[in-house]
Amino acid sequence: MPELLQQIEKTLQQLDAGTSEQVSALFAEVRKQFNDQEAYRRKQNDPANLQIFWTSWLGRKSGVLTKITENWLKPSQPDLKRIVGQELNSLKAHIEAVRLEQNAAIEAAGDSAANARDREDLSLPGVARPLGSRHPLRQTFEEIEKIFLSLGYSVVAGPEMETPYYNFEALNIPEHHPARDNMDTFYMAAPFTETVQGKPFAETAQGKPGAAPLLLRTHTSPMQIRTMEKQQPPVRIIVPGKVYRRDNPDATHGFMFHQIEGLAVDTGITFCDFKGTVEYFVREFLGPKIKTRLRPSYFPFTEPSVEVDATCVFCGGKGCNVCKQSGWIELFGAGMVDPAVYGFVNYDAKTLSGFAFGLGVERLTQLKYNINDLQLYFQNDVRFLRQFA
Ligand code: FA5
Repeated sequence: MPELLQQIEKTLQQLDAGTSEQVSALFAEVRKQFNDQEAYRRKQNDPANLQIFWTSWLGRKSGVLTKITENWLKPSQPDLKRIVGQELNSLKAHIEAVRLEQNAAIEAAGDSAANARDREDLSLPGVARPLGSRHPLRQTFEEIEKIFLSLGYSVVAGPEMETPYYNFEALNIPEHHPARDNMDTFYMAAPFTETVQGKPFAETAQGKPGAAPLLLRTHTSPMQIRTMEKQQPPVRIIVPGKVYRRDNPDATHGFMFHQIEGLAVDTGITFCDFKGTVEYFVREFLGPKIKTRLRPSYFPFTEPSVEVDATCVFCGGKGCNVCKQSGWIELFGAGMVDPAVYGFVNYDAKTLSGFAFGLGVERLTQLKYNINDLQLYFQNDVRFLRQFA
């Protein structure tokens, strides 16, 4: 190369190349140098040298081809210019061809390395993705909703934050009524300043007298009132949702639990319709062998009121520890809608009648699957939850 570098710094005249043969011989020498260097570089296969090599030959400022153009072609004698130009073009084409061939080889090598890296081993075992399942409470919700949908009921939802009016007063539970004692709950600090879309919450929740302080609803029964306020009879709804009470957590109590309210109001609904609906539901939910009985009870918003009992699912009614040897298990509260409630929603108590019920979802699920502790629902232990998959 040093010799070549010296040669290309000189003109053809200085190199004593006055004939086309001499010019061709010079170019042949340059081409040989290129080929030798290229073979050497290829043998060494050092990627760091690649750039240097090509710059030394093709560099725009001081590459060999630029120098030959400047020092040999431009100042050459007119009679030699043609042959110098031809030889130079042929050399350029040769060098360019080698460069293209090399780039293609480098790309192909890169591709095959990447392919080897990425190749999938189809014999490897697949990645097992554990499938989740619906929570047992969710399954009970869906099952109960299905039963009532088949009877022509619709499913509605309501706010968990309520006004005392909907949670108590409109359900015929005035202030200081002892029935409120069983339903102590969580109250929001009054006055409640939260606004929704610029309006006080109580207003957006159709607040009525006694709107503040707001509370977490203790049952799903407020939706009886909200539905009847909005809708003329016939009404057939169920209301699944969360409710809250200041109850201490134990095997059968939570401070948050789930209920499904039911309400049917129309002309000519009788106690027989009520009994038939309740019996149908219990049979569908717990099985055809289960019998029901109605026990007198008290709720301010139903008259008469009952507790619905079922033959014990564990002993079949013979008597066991779970049913305290009675053969019966308490399922839920219910009754015919108290006419006083119709007064709060402007329904005509003389022509209308109906019934309502309130199912405790945790308790019904406990009974169905023999779960002895209500707290298990909320601990998220997959060993428990997997059993319902
Ligand atoms: C009521 O809540 C009435 N609203 C039900 C009703 C509706 C009666 C319509 C008549 C007409 P009670 O307080 O009994 O009733 O609660 C209903 C059910 O909720 C109970 O049977 C029980 O299954 C469940 N329950 C009550 N308290 C808790 C608690 N702390 N944790 C879990 N479940 C509870």
